[in-house]
Amino acid sequence: MERRSFIRRISIALASIAGIFLGASFLKQFAHRHGEQGKRIRVGRLSDFPVDTYTYINDHKIFVYRDHEGIRSVSAVCTHLGCIIQRTDEGFECPCHGSCYSEEGKVVSGPAPTALAWYKMERTPDGKFIVDLDKKTGADEKLYFA
Ligand code: FES
Repeated sequence: MERRSFIRRISIALASIAGIFLGASFLKQFAHRHGEQGKRIRVGRLSDFPVDTYTYINDHKIFVYRDHEGIRSVSAVCTHLGCIIQRTDEGFECPCHGSCYSEEGKVVSGPAPTALAWYKMERTPDGKFIVDLDKKTGADEKLYFA
């Protein structure tokens, strides 16, 4: 009798621990989704972005492009199946299935169904740039240095 009681208590304890882990991972999924909304990422200072260059930000899968007038950012994620695109002389190319995008991110060829996403940028008072992944802009819009 005592042994059965012990085994039952151990079973209940193990089931409770498993339930806690399952519940925590379930809640973590929602927390992650919530964190992706309203996502504003700091990408660096002006000196981090050479003029006339697309700088790849690996942590966030975006390119930041700076010219003499301003700065803008574009997604580096292919709209076909999500591979990371690469810069070419004409625009962007996906190494997975060959989609090509123009300099403005429009689909030139390949299976990609839609253009690349461009994101709004802001500058903080202390001179750092922020990319707002929730606010899409047109390819011709940039944050002007003024
Ligand atoms: S994932 Fe880019 S072309 Fe298929």
